[in-house]
Amino acid sequence: MRIKFVLLLTCLLQPTLAWSQDAGDADDVRQGHRLASELCSTCHVATPDQATLPIRHPPAPPFATILKRKDFTAEWLTNFLKTTHRGLDEPNGMPNPDLADFQIKQIAAYLMSVHQQ
Ligand code: HEC
Repeated sequence: MRIKFVLLLTCLLQPTLAWSQDAGDADDVRQGHRLASELCSTCHVATPDQATLPIRHPPAPPFATILKRKDFTAEWLTNFLKTTHRGLDEPNGMPNPDLADFQIKQIAAYLMSVHQQ
């Protein structure tokens, strides 16, 4: 009797678990879109619906161009965002955006969702 109850519970809960995981990914994509619009758009054209052009002159490469890199993966992006590219030897490199790991994950989720379209 008890085993049947546990089995029934497992069956009932499974779709809920799968659904909540999908919702988590969708939420990361949404949050990543927001972060890209707010944090990256001063230098890059970061999203297609960006309200204003980048302030940086000349602008950094648009994300649409970056997404065409053959080596573009979530890992490559994560590594890029965790390191500093500006220094005495590279005065025009991108400054380290100093993001938390969960924010990098969200930006990567957003860019991967656009990449796969
Ligand atoms: C202060 C200006 C500035 C901001 C803000 C900025 N970037 Fe950049 N970014 C640059 C510049 C300049 C480059 C090109 C030079 C380089 O590769 O370091 C660049 C390059 C990149 C590249 C590599 C492009 C390539 O093909 O090598 C990625 C990826 C990137 N930025 C992502 C981001 C993301 C994501 C954000 C927002 C969290 C962001 N950038 C915010 C200035 C900026």
